[in-house]
Amino acid sequence: MQMVKKVGRMLCMCVMMSLPAMAQNIASDGEEAFVEQLLSRMTLEEKIGQLTLYTSDYDVSGPFLRAGYLDDIKAGRVGAIFNAFTAAFTRKLQTMAVEQTRLKVPLLFGYDVIHGFRTIFPIPLGEAASWDLAAIEKSARIAATEASAAGLHWTFAPMVDIARDPRWGRIAEGAGEDTYLGSLIARARVQGFQGQAIGRDDTLLACAKHFAAYGAAEAGRDYNSVDISERTLREVYLPPFQAAVDAGAATIMTSFNEISGIPSTGNRHLLTDILRNEWKFQGFVVTDYTSINEMINHGFAANEAEAGELAINSGVDMDMQGAIFQNELAKLVAQQRVSVAAIDAAVRRILRLKYKLGLFANPFAYSDETREKTRIMAPEHLQAAFEMAKKAIVLLKNDGNLLPLAKNGGTIALIGPLADNRHEPLGSWCGAGDWQHVMTIRQGLAARLSPGCKLLYAKGCNINDTARDGFAEAVQLAQQADVIVAAMGEEAIMSGEAASRANLNLPGVQEELLRELKASGKPVVLILMNGRPLTIPWAAEHIPAIVECWFLGTQSGHAIAEVLLGDYNPSGRLPVSFPRTIGQIPVYYNHKNTGRPLDVNNKYTSKYLDVANSPLYPFGFGLSYTRFSYANLTLNQAAMTPADKLVVSVEVKNCGERAGTETVQLYLRDEFASVTRPVKELKKFCQITLQPGESQNVAFALALNDLSFYDRNMQWTAEPGTFVVMVGANASDLLSARFELRKR
Ligand code: BGC
Repeated sequence: MQMVKKVGRMLCMCVMMSLPAMAQNIASDGEEAFVEQLLSRMTLEEKIGQLTLYTSDYDVSGPFLRAGYLDDIKAGRVGAIFNAFTAAFTRKLQTMAVEQTRLKVPLLFGYDVIHGFRTIFPIPLGEAASWDLAAIEKSARIAATEASAAGLHWTFAPMVDIARDPRWGRIAEGAGEDTYLGSLIARARVQGFQGQAIGRDDTLLACAKHFAAYGAAEAGRDYNSVDISERTLREVYLPPFQAAVDAGAATIMTSFNEISGIPSTGNRHLLTDILRNEWKFQGFVVTDYTSINEMINHGFAANEAEAGELAINSGVDMDMQGAIFQNELAKLVAQQRVSVAAIDAAVRRILRLKYKLGLFANPFAYSDETREKTRIMAPEHLQAAFEMAKKAIVLLKNDGNLLPLAKNGGTIALIGPLADNRHEPLGSWCGAGDWQHVMTIRQGLAARLSPGCKLLYAKGCNINDTARDGFAEAVQLAQQADVIVAAMGEEAIMSGEAASRANLNLPGVQEELLRELKASGKPVVLILMNGRPLTIPWAAEHIPAIVECWFLGTQSGHAIAEVLLGDYNPSGRLPVSFPRTIGQIPVYYNHKNTGRPLDVNNKYTSKYLDVANSPLYPFGFGLSYTRFSYANLTLNQAAMTPADKLVVSVEVKNCGERAGTETVQLYLRDEFASVTRPVKELKKFCQITLQPGESQNVAFALALNDLSFYDRNMQWTAEPGTFVVMVGANASDLLSARFELRKR
């Protein structure tokens, strides 16, 4: 190991000495001049190399590996590598690029740093449940600080896909169902990853993905087709991408899916008309893993050459893993199907970012063993992950104030396959996270309970099989306890990529075990760990306390224990509706009214015969150990003009016995418009912390933009007429008032 490091450093010095010409140019020229000068010296093959991204064999995130990627690096056939990290390994690969290729252009190293690098934070859906933008930004900041110390320049995050279908496993990676919340979180994550400036050694280039509408996959089946209107695309799915672009996201990744017949990777309307021309995106576009090749399966390109032609001419700059640009672009240029100008434009975008990262000045700037040792899992990172994990927890039910549990006496039976599990809490896409650092619920409770309190533990069953042989021990233990804490849910790999489910119940025999525990007559607290909303109608009816914990990462057990024992008052709010049954899906709060809106007394209205229309737990929902009341919704005026700001205020009071944090949510409905509008849309929210008995007047200012939408001609506009403004604790529990927008 020591030897390897020494060799690495020596190589680095040689490399630096062999780069004087380039370094001089950097000092004297600006970015544009440097890039143009370099471009002018490149052969077509070298240019195509810059448009090529291959995975290393260090980690795997897709179906197949390209043999010989090291030879590709040495030959200048690849400009970027993913799934390679650690300072030593990236240094080794970078040395090949800057020593053995003719122009010594440094490699760009990318990786899926989704919710932490080694210090693992809650899955993104869990972080979204905090509704705490500053904390979410900080989480991304820390992920970047750690990853950039391990040689990485670029993360394939944030995933900003809106997801209304919990069958889709990748709902775990995003911010949930709402476009407004999703857009704010997209911005926070981009800012967090990219920090104050690209090129600082604690930042990563962000990549907003998957462009676009990947979350609208039919039937929630991953990679499936999407067929949506331009209106739904623009109203629901695109705004988080635009927010990411506006926040300066350096790169965008295309999605695997087609939209209404056109695969995203060959979709010029998306990649050029919207992204570049409308939004003025300046960075580069990378494909998803072999998504150029997949246009053949889509039936959109007849062969690889055609697929490559479609991709580059639509606006793709970099080919991830497909080798199509590598194999086909030069021939396509010779046949005049692709212009050198198109290739140059793509190369420029990539070289500019390499320049901004400072890689031409020092290709090894990010491969720093000292930083790697000191920054990764720094105590303050663990502390931030702990804070974030607590904020992500959503209290779904707490009958009779069963929670918090008493710390100072009695016996707790902790039961379930996730109670002492160190692997699953990392969640999907957990970067370089190490299960050995994970704190389990059992450990978290044991560390906090007083000596007079007894903690019994039994696993009871596995997460996803049919073995019941652990039931007897679990039930016997339960009978000795004052309270049962059951930790159940999904395996981490049951959400994330290629992890769609057609059933959203607790997998395996967990619910059976839960029923037996309940039959013991002891009070039961259900802790859920999952990457998506689950359907839990039986538990919601029969279990008195339910705590949604997603996958909370490294500090899982500490965070859950603090909530269970009342050291932390839960404040998370659902970023996605929980269905009662899969038959309701998609169930989301901002639906349209229809011509026959629900009337339970009228058969011929829009409803089911066998289940309510409403979700089990609505968007924005979450309880606290205290109670908040809302009163006196007032508007500063009954009508506003386009130039006005309408001030909406409400009085929020903490009526309980302990301090707590409330997320005050404002929704708006445009009652009549030239196109139909949703029954409500989140437009504002804020978080306030109130002491027992304290009340606060919360005011929101609405401006014309908040009232605007795409009209019949797809123009962003606000139409005069009446609006309903609603303020409250979640999408189903709101006070409302009406106002008018006047022409002037
Ligand atoms: C996923 C992307 C990911 C890429 C690289 C793909 O399969 O869809 O989200 O960034 O692999 O790992």
